[in-house]
Amino acid sequence: MKNAIACIVTMLNILCLSAQTNYQSTAKEMIRKMTLEEKATLVSGKGMKLPGMNGQPAGSVVGATEDKVPGAAGTTFAVPRLGIPTLVLSDGPAGVRIDSVRKGNSSRTYYATAWPVATLLASTWDTAMIKKMGVAFGNEIHDYGVDIILAPALNIQRNPLGGRNFEYYSEDPVVSGNMAAALVNSIQSVGVGTSIKHFVANNAETNRYTSNSILSERTLREIYLKGFEIAVKKSNPWTIMSSYNKINGTYASENYDLLTTILRKEWGFKGLVMTDWDFIDGKDHVVQMKAGNDLLMPGTPNQTKAIIEAVKNGKLDENILNENCERILNIIFQSPAYKNYKFSDNPDLKQHAQISKTVAEDGMVLLKNNEDALPFKKDDHTIALFGINGYELIAGGTGSGDVNKAYTISLERGLDNAGYKVDADVRNMYTSYLSDEHAKHPKKSFFQELMNPTPPIKDYMPAEDLINKAAVSGDIAVISIGRNSGETRDRKLEDDFNLSDTERTLIKNVSNAFHAQHKKVVVVLNIGGVIEAASWRDDPDAILLAWQPGQEGGNAITDLLSGKVNPSGKLAVTFPVKYDDVPSAKTFPGKEFPAQATTDMMGMKQIPTEVSYNEGIYVGYRYYNTYHVKPAYEFGYGLSYSKFTYGNMKLSSSTFNKNITATLAITNNEKVPGKEVAEIYISAPSTNLDKPSEELKAFAKTKLLKPGESQTLTFNITAADLASFYTNKEAWIADAGKYTLKVGASSTDIRLSADFNLPTDMVVEKVHKALAPQVDINELKGN
Ligand code: BGC
Repeated sequence: MKNAIACIVTMLNILCLSAQTNYQSTAKEMIRKMTLEEKATLVSGKGMKLPGMNGQPAGSVVGATEDKVPGAAGTTFAVPRLGIPTLVLSDGPAGVRIDSVRKGNSSRTYYATAWPVATLLASTWDTAMIKKMGVAFGNEIHDYGVDIILAPALNIQRNPLGGRNFEYYSEDPVVSGNMAAALVNSIQSVGVGTSIKHFVANNAETNRYTSNSILSERTLREIYLKGFEIAVKKSNPWTIMSSYNKINGTYASENYDLLTTILRKEWGFKGLVMTDWDFIDGKDHVVQMKAGNDLLMPGTPNQTKAIIEAVKNGKLDENILNENCERILNIIFQSPAYKNYKFSDNPDLKQHAQISKTVAEDGMVLLKNNEDALPFKKDDHTIALFGINGYELIAGGTGSGDVNKAYTISLERGLDNAGYKVDADVRNMYTSYLSDEHAKHPKKSFFQELMNPTPPIKDYMPAEDLINKAAVSGDIAVISIGRNSGETRDRKLEDDFNLSDTERTLIKNVSNAFHAQHKKVVVVLNIGGVIEAASWRDDPDAILLAWQPGQEGGNAITDLLSGKVNPSGKLAVTFPVKYDDVPSAKTFPGKEFPAQATTDMMGMKQIPTEVSYNEGIYVGYRYYNTYHVKPAYEFGYGLSYSKFTYGNMKLSSSTFNKNITATLAITNNEKVPGKEVAEIYISAPSTNLDKPSEELKAFAKTKLLKPGESQTLTFNITAADLASFYTNKEAWIADAGKYTLKVGASSTDIRLSADFNLPTDMVVEKVHKALAPQVDINELKGN
């Protein structure tokens, strides 16, 4: 039997290989038949219908690609005479972003599922759950005629004010890389492609086209490249999107070190690299081609012209252009478009909505639960729901990470659906306030909103007697606080990271009134990124962090509040006590040089900016733990309605040879079923090099454990997990000495630990000198 399986696997591998070889030879043959104009047209795509871009109907050489999937972010050009179809590329990380209504077709809509945002996905710590979601997401991409989804996004959440943090997973590369790999593998298993983005060190939105990220090779390798490395090696994404910014002085899309030396030579990436959607046509397209950036998006006629001229005048070797084309063709050959897939335009949105709800429930984090305020008790029937956000849930962030969804379930609706009574006076007050506020702001188009966002509606302070009345007639209070953000702008400190005065007063007054009646108060946080919580968290009895949970959010939150589902999410980002505690607080979003400002194609000012990553590798918990700065809620933290014990830890050896296996058992000691996340941290010797006090190396979530049930988890630690990057040796080296493997319920709540020894230094991998900074960086060095 074993032999038969081995035989089938070998045959499948041979078939795969020959299919690949076949594509390659076909690509080479195809390139021999292509004219220079056709090649230059293939490498410059089409997307935005803005002046100066390839948004107009195609010229003589290329086929019409107009609107195969209206609302998709872009396409490549077809070459009909050679049977090369157009590839459709669509955003984004939280769902397929296409137009829901199409010209000339008023009879139907094309809504897409709004999945929970990436920060919530990371908080599940549940790669099996992400895979389940990925298959459904992949089917939806396929059914809507899209070939490549511009997702997942896995930049590191370096600073809480990052405007796109909701699109990203974590402050930690091991979480980010593994989550991205799970999503890529599952989406691609359906036969469509992904584009992991934004490669790399793109951690702020302010001046995003003109900022220069300045960081050391070690910081790049250990923090900012690491997640991408994991995702590339574990999941072979079809494509990668290079970021807008410069890295140590060179734009990502012009960066040979990044796109060829590291990505292709060291990591073995076989797919194509495309640019992010450039609205400033200031890059050198010849250099981009040479660097290995195969596809320029959204594409301009000038790019095509520049490439043709460069080949003619010898500035660009045609063989390089051929390689760029070959990589694009090899992806086209795998695509649904090439296989002439007859897409249904009819994904199973009902089933996908249910899956999105299950994922949402898996990633919400219970931050506080004094005296078991949650779940609701049997006689908690009437809920006094405060905060405008309770009546208008934020399913996900704005910009290209947004989705045209059929509906969003608010918390109000979720409570209604589950049979709770929402206090009518409080409800009427909020709904009439909201409808008055909406009337003041007419709806804008996607671009108008991107350039000039409608200011968020300010929360409303209900009159004291309304709160007091609700405290008498209601059984429990729920206060919902919301935050939204998105591309092109970072978040603000006041009234955003910090709560507004109205929000603080609301929490205080409602807490006082309900506590005077011996009733509980719960705060629900419907946010995409980290906020300040230390100054107000003592007021309510419980806090549920719902993140931006997708279109079924209100139903999912209700199921956690009611206890139908036991919370099992944990933080993949730290909540600091105050903004000044953030290690990058002083260097975010960077130092501007206004005298050199330019304007982008959308009319937005872009000021060259230098962002010095002075905190080095000490990002998130690596900083808070090493420097003993106590956060409000630490990385890896999250409560449950169950209590779990950790035990029976065994290491396969106390001396490290090629790897070490750790096994341990987790037991549910409560009367309710629940799931627990176990986090494996390593503390490494810092004899030769400063090291963070702990670094996450692996994690796993148990199945749903019944009361009293245990599960044994096994973790494999390899030499690569012990290694740090030595810049002077351009190598990953594991230092000889004592290592401690710690099993944490969070990054500070360590439940088990065991030591092992590495007898001699181990050079795990030699790499190239690449991406070196040209200036001195005054980096933190551990303590
Ligand atoms: C964003 C990308 C997105 C692209 C296409 C860019 O502005 O940075 O994340 O995929 O637009 O919409």
